[in-house]
Amino acid sequence: MHPLQCVLKAQRCLRWAPLASVSWLLLRTCRAHSGVRSSAGPSPERRQEDGVWKDFSSRLATGPTFQHFLRSASVPQEKPSTPDVEDPPPYLTVDDLLGTQRKVYLETYGCQMNVNDTEIAWSILQKSGYLRTSNLQEADVVLLVTCSIREKAEQTIWNRLHQLRSLKSKRLRSRVPLRIGILGCMAERLKEEILNREKTVDILAGPDAYRDLPRLLAVAESGQQAANVLLSLDETYADVLPVQMSPSVTSAFVSIMRGCDNMCSYCIVPFTRGRERSRPVASILEEVRKLSEQVKNSPALLTVSGLKEVTLLGQNVNSFRDNSEVQFNNAVSTNLSRGFSTNYKAKQGGLRFAYLLDQVSRIDPEMRIRFTSPHPKDFPDEVLQLIHERDNICKQIHLPAQSGSSRVLEAMRRGYSREAYVELIHHIRESIPGVSLSSDFIAGFCGETEEDHLQTVSLLQEVQYNMGFLFAYSMRQKTRAYHRLKDDIPEEVKLRRLEELITVFREEATKANKTFVGCTQLVLVEGLSKRSATDLYGRNDGNLKVIFPDVEMEDVTNSGLRVQAQPGDYVLVKITSASSQTLKGHVLCRTTLKDSAAYC
Ligand code: 5AD
Ligand code: SF4
Repeated sequence: MHPLQCVLKAQRCLRWAPLASVSWLLLRTCRAHSGVRSSAGPSPERRQEDGVWKDFSSRLATGPTFQHFLRSASVPQEKPSTPDVEDPPPYLTVDDLLGTQRKVYLETYGCQMNVNDTEIAWSILQKSGYLRTSNLQEADVVLLVTCSIREKAEQTIWNRLHQLRSLKSKRLRSRVPLRIGILGCMAERLKEEILNREKTVDILAGPDAYRDLPRLLAVAESGQQAANVLLSLDETYADVLPVQMSPSVTSAFVSIMRGCDNMCSYCIVPFTRGRERSRPVASILEEVRKLSEQVKNSPALLTVSGLKEVTLLGQNVNSFRDNSEVQFNNAVSTNLSRGFSTNYKAKQGGLRFAYLLDQVSRIDPEMRIRFTSPHPKDFPDEVLQLIHERDNICKQIHLPAQSGSSRVLEAMRRGYSREAYVELIHHIRESIPGVSLSSDFIAGFCGETEEDHLQTVSLLQEVQYNMGFLFAYSMRQKTRAYHRLKDDIPEEVKLRRLEELITVFREEATKANKTFVGCTQLVLVEGLSKRSATDLYGRNDGNLKVIFPDVEMEDVTNSGLRVQAQPGDYVLVKITSASSQTLKGHVLCRTTLKDSAAYC
């Protein structure tokens, strides 16, 4: 990121994130924090590179001037074609920003957004000349993309850092020093605490600071800790094409918005990922188009039939609102779901989720479109209608309820009652017959009584979700619940309630999934089943895993041809059995999405 942009963003972010500091200022702060090293004289790596350090140190002391910002703001600098690096700040050279073939090992924790962020971070580092490794032992840089949503997620990272500390200390002196970075939500939430507590960490980059990674790593080369935890109002990485790292040749995730304005009282996300902002529609469509063409044209993938599924990603994916261009503000505004309200002032204008979904689904009729994670408040009729009408938009909706008790929902500041939520479920089921539903629930939130808990149990029974994600409440600092409510449910009670919810969810999901027995499902094949080399697996429209024997079948588009299914093929599978998580059946034929639909 350009330093001037950095300053501007810092100014705009002050209200939201008063602790965030401009990156090059924070760099100086971090020097003070790394006092042990500084006062004890240069570290081994610093001594090793003493010349570099002195040079760096004197350049840093001089610091950027106001003239520098003006100069580099007005004249766009020419960048080398490969590797492609940003303009360096005055205390670094272009060469300092280069990866010079150093190997990066990336490890991802938490949600799908973090997987996508890992791809973005890697895309940025690759352009700077870094190499990727999947072997920790040969890594020169280890980056952990972290999650803060629950205490347990953070504990996993602290434990991992403990292991990495010993890897770092055992590193041979003949090799370049190992650098360790914390990226994402935990970097944002704990900031200096990580640098102080874990001296093994060299860099911190918050979720909006990945463009700054080459600079942070360059600074770390001097043996200093460096951090950028600045939150942004407009960073969507719209122009960074993520390097898809998943081995899947069938599916990809496309980030469409970042951040969250909902401020549910238990949730840390608005504090770690910042304000809600949407990526411009045009850049999303371009990425989806590229993904659809890229695989089809790739000679290496001639043996498979190509990328067939895109999942639109965002913390509040259906609150999408592209107002990147003034004329979009005249767009017809859409309503909230009936009976739902927001914790923030109503927003106006912009291109909304229904528009985006319509456009994305028109790109390739053979490409399935999914989206996650939505908020129940943003399901106006036009979104439901579109999902119903368009063959390639999956009839699967994640509808996080969090609790079945209106009293608890109010304490959670979810903006709806149990009744409004149940009414929405009925409306969705009427609008999209056969829709698959999933949800998130939290057990043991502040003040939850046994009666409240039983209401959640009864909601699970009433709705019969096909899939569910259930968690014990984990109190998070900074949140409204932390400041205003008491985390008064004992741990063993939370866990007992969680167990009860899991049991009921499984029973109900088994019932719901058994309704597929005897039906024919359109399945997108993903690969060989992990449990049996003679079975394939894929997913139905509702995202349930379907397992079936890998046998020859008829290809309906080439009559008389017998084929075996490949990843990326659509096949029809007759379902013979179901559990809470999977369906099993036998394959009928290979087909296309356009030509066939699931039926009972
Ligand atoms: N404790 C437990 N679960 C939480 N979630 C979010 N914050 C917390 C918390 N503090 C759950 C919610 C959310 C999902 C992504 O994580 O159910 O929908
Ligand atoms: Fe957290 Fe609520 Fe935002 Fe979801 S909608 S990310 S639960 S604050």
